[in-house]
Amino acid sequence: MHYEYRQGRLSVEGVDLTEIAEACGTPTYVYSAGMIRERYRAYDAALAGMPNQVCYAVKANSNLAVLAVLAQEGAGFDIVSGGELFRVLKAGGHAASVVFSGVGKKPDEIRYAIEHGVHSFNCESYAEIEVLNRVAGEAGKIAHVALRVNPDVNPVTHEYISTGLKENKFGIDISVIEAAYAHAAAQPHLKVTGVSCHIGSQMLDSSPMVEAVERVVALVRKLQASGLPIDHVDLGGGLGVKYREGEQTPSIAAAVQAMRQIVEQTGLKAVVEPGRSIVAEAGVLLTSVLYRKNNGGKEFAIIDAAMNDLIRPSLYKAFHEITPVLESTAPPMEVDLVGPVCESGDWIAKSRTLPTLNSGDLLAIHTAGAYGFGMASNYNSRGRAAEVLVDGDTFRVARQRESWDDLVRGESL
Ligand code: LLP
Repeated sequence: MHYEYRQGRLSVEGVDLTEIAEACGTPTYVYSAGMIRERYRAYDAALAGMPNQVCYAVKANSNLAVLAVLAQEGAGFDIVSGGELFRVLKAGGHAASVVFSGVGKKPDEIRYAIEHGVHSFNCESYAEIEVLNRVAGEAGKIAHVALRVNPDVNPVTHEYISTGLKENKFGIDISVIEAAYAHAAAQPHLKVTGVSCHIGSQMLDSSPMVEAVERVVALVRKLQASGLPIDHVDLGGGLGVKYREGEQTPSIAAAVQAMRQIVEQTGLKAVVEPGRSIVAEAGVLLTSVLYRKNNGGKEFAIIDAAMNDLIRPSLYKAFHEITPVLESTAPPMEVDLVGPVCESGDWIAKSRTLPTLNSGDLLAIHTAGAYGFGMASNYNSRGRAAEVLVDGDTFRVARQRESWDDLVRGESL
């Protein structure tokens, strides 16, 4: 299943994207439910036959309709805020298969998660261990805890999305983590049940992940020897996807197999937290060309999607393939695709070769299903884009385009 031209029109599953643009306008995010299921099932199948839980990382795309597709598949969820837990529960997910990650959980978020009975907390500092213990005690509960180890493995990815090195803010340094475990185990309202790690995102090679898993498993052996009841390892997410034609990424099956071999011999339950690799390729951002302009010999196409809709190019210099929705034989042109926001950093693509563009042309920005809408803002008082879910031959609005009234909701004079 993928996005492809059918009778000259870009389509996904049984739906032609021009129909969506006509019905919903642009910019609009489109997600394929079929592709999301396919990716989730690849994880599920790769871990079958051993104790496991696939916890989709909600931050990648937290639309309720997307979460509901995954909840119906039986997915667990990796959350980093009370708001994400609220969404998961609304979408039909079960708290018992939720892991709560993140470096700065607030006491009220912890309380909410404890009351709903999440599977476990991935704790990242001594201070957090103490707050978790206090809040669990106040609620009269025992919270299950994994500490997030920082294994000091280089994930070889963009510096902003690398998390497993000593200099990053994440996790507890592997060289001192045993003392942190002893501290957690001494808390009366905590039960230490796991080890977690997540070293980075958009990894195009699974060897750093494998190295991290080896270090995690070695740590588990030491912790078990000291009497701690460790029953699971949480290996995080991070598998990369193909943003550029020709880019090579390991398949989900291959990446999981490499890690599985190491965990399986321990008898531990394997938790994984994939985000991007489940939703990125299932999504495109539909946009229209507003104006063409030539400045100092450089061609610009001003499109109606901007950095507030998709910040990845501005923030990470990320590359997203862009194709016309109507297959075109127009002569090629080199063009910068920029949005209407008043910042020179507001660009979606630079020096891109595309068939000659005209006002009104519809474009698809690919691989936009992860960290697209979720990182969108209202900068320049632009309402956030609509979101549409395609499933088989039908599509429906999963989130309405924001109106000007939505923009000022909650404000007062
Ligand atoms: N688990 C934890 C603890 C994480 O921090 C993350 C992502 C994931 C799982 C999911 O990782 P994934 O499978 O999606 O790589 N905004 C950036 C990506 C930030 C990733 C943050 N953490 C981007 O657009 O590339």
